[in-house]
Amino acid sequence: MWRRNAINNAIAANVPVKEVDWLLQHISDLDSLTLRLESFKTRSTILLQKSIEQITILWQKRLTEHLPVQYIVGRVSWRNFELDVSPSVLIPRPETELIIDIVQQANCYTKDSQWVDLGTGSGAIALGLASVFPDAIIHAVDCSEAALAIAKTNAVKTGLISQIQFYQGSWWTPLSHVKGKVQGMVSNPPYIPSSQLPQLQPEVFEHEPHLALDGGTDGLDAIRYLVKASPEYLTSGGLWLIEAMAGQATTVVEMLSQQKEYENIKVICDLRGIERFILAFRH
Ligand SMILES: C[S@@+](CC[C@H](N)C(=O)[O-])C[C@H]1O[C@@H](n2cnc3c(N)ncnc32)[C@H](O)[C@@H]1O
Repeated sequence: MWRRNAINNAIAANVPVKEVDWLLQHISDLDSLTLRLESFKTRSTILLQKSIEQITILWQKRLTEHLPVQYIVGRVSWRNFELDVSPSVLIPRPETELIIDIVQQANCYTKDSQWVDLGTGSGAIALGLASVFPDAIIHAVDCSEAALAIAKTNAVKTGLISQIQFYQGSWWTPLSHVKGKVQGMVSNPPYIPSSQLPQLQPEVFEHEPHLALDGGTDGLDAIRYLVKASPEYLTSGGLWLIEAMAGQATTVVEMLSQQKEYENIKVICDLRGIERFILAFRH
């Protein structure tokens, strides 16, 4: 009954109805299949971690305050992980999952190599790298102390903490000790032009950290820095891979070409066909 009402509220508020089940999965003993097939109707008891009144308040926050359901439940599924999230970190996006496959397909992994995730947020990319390269060392950097706390928790919970070193600081700055030794740099930097932030969905603009979104006047401040600063840190043949916003790829390719320290520059689309990732290798 509660679920049916919540689904009706979601439709009326133009909120994806699947979010009702995301919420219920996290606060009950029901799994997604049971919810989808409504087979819970034949059960005599359903275990809830909160009262119906509390669940209703949380759902109202989703509907009226646009609070993302991932922040309400404090969890998100990303690749094979269940990650903790809070409003201190960007909710890792499904399209970013592909960045790990792109790294694997680039086929430049060497045993015991060092990899870097700049702007780690929840730690998603660092964890993805650690899981596909089990003997690599991953250096994960973020300037937000609160984000790093979440990333460390996720590294502990996923059992990958021994492979990841965390640093608080700006981009490459805390990593002077690995200059010239990094096999790959992967980053999903902030890339939204500042003036476009207010046009984002309220779920994003009002609740996700602007530090994770705001890429400066043209959205390219962080990317410009990553193009310029990375060659000093990468080994010869080292991988440079970032996620960018639709419409930015051509400019990023130009920046990389002009720098003259990169080769095999490629643009890779996400699953919706949007030019999303830019890959290059250090000469
Ligand atoms: C778009 S989020 C990406 C988070 C995560 N890597 C992901 O893909 O879900 C960008 C991240 O960069 C971090 N960031 C912003 N400016 C930074 C800086 N100057 N140095 C290091 N990290 C920074 C933000 O705190 C945020 O966690």
